[in-house]
Amino acid sequence: MEQNKIIVAIDGYSSSGKSSMAKWLASRIGYRYIDSGAMYRAVTLFAMDNGMIDSNGNVDAEALGNEVDAIEIDFAIMPDGQHTLLNGADVERQIRSLEVSQHVSPVAAIPMIRKSLTRRQKEFGQQKGIVMDGRDIGTTVFPHAEMKVFVTATPETRARRRLRELEDKGMKADYESVLANVIDRDHIDETRAESPLRKAADAVVLDNSDMTPAMQQEWLLNLFNTIVCCKK
Ligand code: DC
Repeated sequence: MEQNKIIVAIDGYSSSGKSSMAKWLASRIGYRYIDSGAMYRAVTLFAMDNGMIDSNGNVDAEALGNEVDAIEIDFAIMPDGQHTLLNGADVERQIRSLEVSQHVSPVAAIPMIRKSLTRRQKEFGQQKGIVMDGRDIGTTVFPHAEMKVFVTATPETRARRRLRELEDKGMKADYESVLANVIDRDHIDETRAESPLRKAADAVVLDNSDMTPAMQQEWLLNLFNTIVCCKK
């Protein structure tokens, strides 16, 4: 029933598999899925394409902050899944590149960028019936979400998963650089002043280092069913 729809917030470390879990749950329960990380990645690509990130990786926060509200970010359903649109162009492939991954954390640490994207993310949740994954969904975007999950796994497990993902997409990368990027992003995400990555007090932790996708799905669906059933 419509009035029983809830908000599901799935936060966690980079490459912890939270997006796959969130996507699967959304499709299983008929909710809308929003990848908030893709929104930060799209803004990063915009900054790269518009000369707002120099060769040392420094971001022109003021220039990007002034532009951010005018950047259109949307999602389109394609036969192979959800694609991210940046000012109307399909950028799904570009935003997953290692180059964007290397620049996204400093962009996501800029308060004006977070403010603009957080506002848009809250709008997506107005009708409930949404599964959103990210870093601060259970803490800042939807502090009152009925279901909150915090996903974690060892950096090595996450680096291996990310490498496999990149290779599956035909992109070149080596394990050591991917692991360094995972550790680096963890550090920036956890120590930034604005909305750092941290577990919400009422989030349920899932360490999926030794879990198969099927085990994670079963765990997630059980939690969802328990929450929805008790809410009635
Ligand atoms: O989940 P991801 O790896 O695609 O996220 C990309 C970056 O965006 C990551 O470095 C952290 C940042 N991010 C964030 O700060 N807040 C969110 N809600 C989602 C992502």
